[in-house]
Amino acid sequence: MGAGIAQVAARAGYTVIMRDVKDEFLKRGLATVDKSLQRDVDKERLTAAEKQCVVERIKPVTEMDALRDASFVVEAVNEDLNVKTEVFKALDEITSRETILASNTSSISITRLAATTRRPDKVIGMHFMNPVPVMKLVEVIRGLATSDETYERVRELSEKLGKTALDCQDSPGFVSNRVLMPMINEAIFCLMEGVATRDNIDEVMKLGMNHPMGPLTLADFIGLDVCLAIMEVLYNGYNDSKYRPCPLLKKMVAAKKLGRKTGEGFFKYN
Ligand code: 3HC
Repeated sequence: MGAGIAQVAARAGYTVIMRDVKDEFLKRGLATVDKSLQRDVDKERLTAAEKQCVVERIKPVTEMDALRDASFVVEAVNEDLNVKTEVFKALDEITSRETILASNTSSISITRLAATTRRPDKVIGMHFMNPVPVMKLVEVIRGLATSDETYERVRELSEKLGKTALDCQDSPGFVSNRVLMPMINEAIFCLMEGVATRDNIDEVMKLGMNHPMGPLTLADFIGLDVCLAIMEVLYNGYNDSKYRPCPLLKKMVAAKKLGRKTGEGFFKYN
């Protein structure tokens, strides 16, 4: 999702420093941006020269120190509290005290991430949806200490990126994944229990509820490891068995069948 966020920010005219730990991940991110912008060139919504300008506004780096002068940071690392905590601590050290540190977390507590910094008033959730260039929503999550000023800046930035910001309080899964993920988890239970075939489960939701993708296809698209991590945050956060992750989901993740990104999940991909 980091590449998608970099793309929409660069398209809106911002200079973007895209940081990852390895050059190969940066190359993959830039290739995703290139492919996505090419769709707009093919549809004559962007010229090839404009596309080039957007791409050139994205500076790929591996050094964390390159973020020193950033005025706004959106973190989009793995959905793992320890990894995110390390990143927030480092960002707090490196960047100016005025810099807003936003997290694209799908479900992890913003209040908890904020508490690892010396600027909890400037830490906020800015949850984009996949595919970022297409989906209009940014779910904005206010931690316990997030200031009104920080919230206003994020709302304004979201609008400049062509998104609609909807705010919610810091609660496990926020709104989007508290509603979406149990639906996906239940579809996986239906598959595990043999209630219907995977194709029929997906078609029921597409034809019956007008969902653009069936829940199993959507799970593959999001990544089964991400789906499991979110279910675990819900399960542990509410201590309620209704959020227990489906055993088949756990098994798929253990088998490293993570969906599109590994070439196989509930479906196979080229
Ligand atoms: N990058 C850029 N543009 C893309 C794209 C991508 N990866 N995929 C599709 N598009 C664009 C196409 O160019 C097309 O644009 P146009 O209508 O302006 O010409 C439009 O999206 C529709 O694409 P297609 O006709 O090729 O395909 P679909 O009609 O099947 O749409 C989809 C693809 C937009 C991905 C649609 O299937 C969809 O909306 N799926 C559900 C996505 C969803 O639910 N996302 C939220 C996931 S949850 C999440 O992200 C939260 C996290 O915390 C887990």
